[in-house]
Amino acid sequence: MSNKTNQQWGGRFNEPTDAFVARFTASVEFDQRMYLQDIRGSIAHAKMLTAAGVLTEAERDDILRGLEEIRGEIERGEFEWSVALEDVHMNIEAALTAKIGITGKKLHTGRSRNDQVATDIRLYVRDEIDLILAEITRLQEGMLQVAERENATVMPGFTHLQTAQPVTFGHHLMAWFEMLSRDFGRFADCRERTNIMPLGAAALAGTTYPIQRQMTTELLGFAAPAENSLDAVSDRDFAIEFCAAASVLLMHLTRMSEELVLWTSAQFDFINLPDRFCTGSSIMPQKKNPDVPELVRGKSGRVYGHLMSLLTLMKSQPLAYNKDNQEDKEPLFDAIDTVKGCLRAFADMVPAIEPKKENMREAALRGFSTATDLADYLVRKGMPFRDAHEVVGKSVAYGIEQSKDLGEMTLAELQQFSDTIEQDVFEVLTLDGSVAARDHIGGTAPKQVLAAIERAKEKLAAR
Ligand code: ARG
Repeated sequence: MSNKTNQQWGGRFNEPTDAFVARFTASVEFDQRMYLQDIRGSIAHAKMLTAAGVLTEAERDDILRGLEEIRGEIERGEFEWSVALEDVHMNIEAALTAKIGITGKKLHTGRSRNDQVATDIRLYVRDEIDLILAEITRLQEGMLQVAERENATVMPGFTHLQTAQPVTFGHHLMAWFEMLSRDFGRFADCRERTNIMPLGAAALAGTTYPIQRQMTTELLGFAAPAENSLDAVSDRDFAIEFCAAASVLLMHLTRMSEELVLWTSAQFDFINLPDRFCTGSSIMPQKKNPDVPELVRGKSGRVYGHLMSLLTLMKSQPLAYNKDNQEDKEPLFDAIDTVKGCLRAFADMVPAIEPKKENMREAALRGFSTATDLADYLVRKGMPFRDAHEVVGKSVAYGIEQSKDLGEMTLAELQQFSDTIEQDVFEVLTLDGSVAARDHIGGTAPKQVLAAIERAKEKLAAR
């Protein structure tokens, strides 16, 4: 980076900015990533100034040509960013003036960096939300694919991480799918409030030029111009909402990560994660570690932190723009990068999960997971539920003593606890009978899982 002096406000100043202060107050190192949005905003502003009679068409064309050239230079890595020019906005404006001369100095008419930066961040976040929404959908498609294949694969369902009742792996994946559907909704909702156009607010009070805010709104694809100029330059709710949506998403990914970590352990041994998503140990030759889910689980911390940073940043700020706001970018950008990285890792990994069906089934057979089915059986034969609960409790105690699951006992053994039990009990004590019996919307019966997948496919198709 070069250190050209900043002449953008030179008029009022008697000495140059202290070199450390220039670096301390600069944001160009991190806000240059918004160069494309800054140029798009400037192009719209220049077109609008021309329509408003502030710039001539020739001036507008010079500005547009200059901005396009600058874009090319940035993209080719030829652009020289200067810390002394503080931020992406003044770097690009100075380069424009160096390129096209005096007309470059007219671009900032009727505009301030305050409405400019607010516009740039909104455009940036909107673009990133669109990428994130597409990536959530890709992850959900992967889940549907595995859920469909594994709609009837039986595994233990847990409460308190203790074996509770059998479920299917497809049903479990569809629970993950639901979490992500809500995340999709949260980001889509955040996009709506992001998609508001600040230009025209200028520094804080609006501008004296005959600007046409509806025109810039349309040129930039915003839904509406911001209603209030003071609010327009100071509002960062959308950044906070983005981090809130990101935090909930990451929380969901940590839950899935935790399950993947458990399931790959020797103790569970429910799934295999292909080697490309794992690493080894430098000392223990036998190790294969589920690094990707572990790292995603860990990355939640920084995203929650960014949410707290932004809430604290905005707390107690008086209207309108304050320099504090420059601190919005690093947490926001890191949250964006983290969300995209975690989603990409998950979207690549989930379709590659290899369930070990025999181990899942074995585990479901071990934990008395059909105990509720036995109780329901007795109720169907006329026994009050509390009494049935008691009978099954005794049967389970006997099973623990004898190391036998309910389905492994003889009829005579079961009848010790109730003579209501007959030969047909074995239909409900099987794992497949147990899951098939939960046959209603939202239940784990394979038929219902397939129906849920069909509804889910329709929802994705309607996005
Ligand atoms: N770099 C600044 C930011 O990120 C741009 C706006 C500065 N405005 C001002 N009046 N100093 O917020």
